[in-house]
Amino acid sequence: MSIRLGDEAPNFTAETTEGTIDFHQWKDGNWAVLFSHPADFTPVCTTELGRTASLKGEFDKRGVKVIGVSVDPVESHNGWAQDITEVGGTDLNFPLVADQDRNVSELYDMIHPGEGDTSTVRSVFIVDPKNKVRLTLTYPKSIGRNFGEIMRVIDALQLTDAAPVSTPVDWQPGDRIIVAPTMSTDDARQRFEDVEEVRPYLRWAKQPQT
Ligand code: BEZ
Repeated sequence: MSIRLGDEAPNFTAETTEGTIDFHQWKDGNWAVLFSHPADFTPVCTTELGRTASLKGEFDKRGVKVIGVSVDPVESHNGWAQDITEVGGTDLNFPLVADQDRNVSELYDMIHPGEGDTSTVRSVFIVDPKNKVRLTLTYPKSIGRNFGEIMRVIDALQLTDAAPVSTPVDWQPGDRIIVAPTMSTDDARQRFEDVEEVRPYLRWAKQPQT
């Protein structure tokens, strides 16, 4: 089943490194990043999971819970966790789903047979507090993801949910934002600082505090 932005993130119950988890219950009204990796004890995955573990403080600040998925068994995940600690320098501090029956992988369309075998590709789903899917991303198995980009999108989603703004190309937190088309320039000048009208449809402003 393919999942589109705005869809409800399908719920599942699965064995993980932190016991049996019901996804929606575990999420408990928080933001979540659900991401798959192809296999345990593989090099790119080891770097990705180490990086994700090291970002726990940043995810926590934003109210985001993280959960990984692969089709390997929980014993394998637990054995690999030691390598993640040693190589990445941070203990595995989020659950990894042991999706041996491929229930989660199929629910989220994480297995792409044209990519070689029946392991999961590198999928990412950012899910909001109401369980709506807000971003999907799919990378090939041989290419590690940029978790700084995932953090940037979380910042942009939380900002654009809180104020009538959009984020421009290459936006980084603290950069100027774009006033939403639904707001007049006069209203924007009341609400935001440093409003600059470049075109009637393109108004820059200082990023508001949310
Ligand atoms: C890796 O994590 O290095 C990897 C896993 C599966 C296929 C290719 C690379």
